[in-house]
Amino acid sequence: MSKGLFIAFEGGEGAGKSTQARMLVEALDARGIAADLTREPGGTTGAEAIRTLLLDPPGEDEGWGPRAEALLFAAARADHVAKRIRPTLARGEWIICDRFVDSSRAYQGGAGELGDALIVALHEIGSEGLRPDLTILIEADPTETARRLAQRDGDTSDAIGGRSAAYHQAVAAAFRAQAEADPDGSVIVDGSGSAEDVHARVMQALTQRLGV
Ligand code: TYD
Repeated sequence: MSKGLFIAFEGGEGAGKSTQARMLVEALDARGIAADLTREPGGTTGAEAIRTLLLDPPGEDEGWGPRAEALLFAAARADHVAKRIRPTLARGEWIICDRFVDSSRAYQGGAGELGDALIVALHEIGSEGLRPDLTILIEADPTETARRLAQRDGDTSDAIGGRSAAYHQAVAAAFRAQAEADPDGSVIVDGSGSAEDVHARVMQALTQRLGV
């Protein structure tokens, strides 16, 4: 049985991750490679329930504290890894995931107040530190992503997407630093141009890195 690979897409809101994840699954399918498309937070019934708690927190404007938030993301991920990601890989199929642990490192660790080491420790506890075979960071121009988000979300945004511009700048900087610190496991893809342009860059990165 050939080995299934685990690919995660990362990036800020509106970078085009979800579109690229879908296009990659279609491209793999066309080559006869079975790939399961999933997302975080979410991907299992339990993790989707935690997603709702995270993105639409109960209680008047109260929200979660940074530690509770990080634990909830790690708990959702633990369920997703145990019930869906590992079993899929064990069947020899691919997993294409829209966000994974590097989102927690960038949002809760880098831009939040927890720092990287605690998030990595939580991931060790929750998911035995599972890393994707390749993390693809889609980097998009902030003006372009703001335009896409206004089109997609209008005035509504979730509890995390609605945070300050400074927070999102810190997220973007953390994503870049993480990718640069892990040249074997990560690749930065330019998210400018059409979805097809970006997809071509993604496929090129996969060929170069994984020989696919
Ligand atoms: P989602 O709609 O999936 O992202 P996008 O807006 O990019 O399509 O929303 C998930 C939100 O949760 C997004 O704001 C990023 C945030 N997030 C974290 O803060 N930490 C995490 O570990 C993950 C997976 C997501």
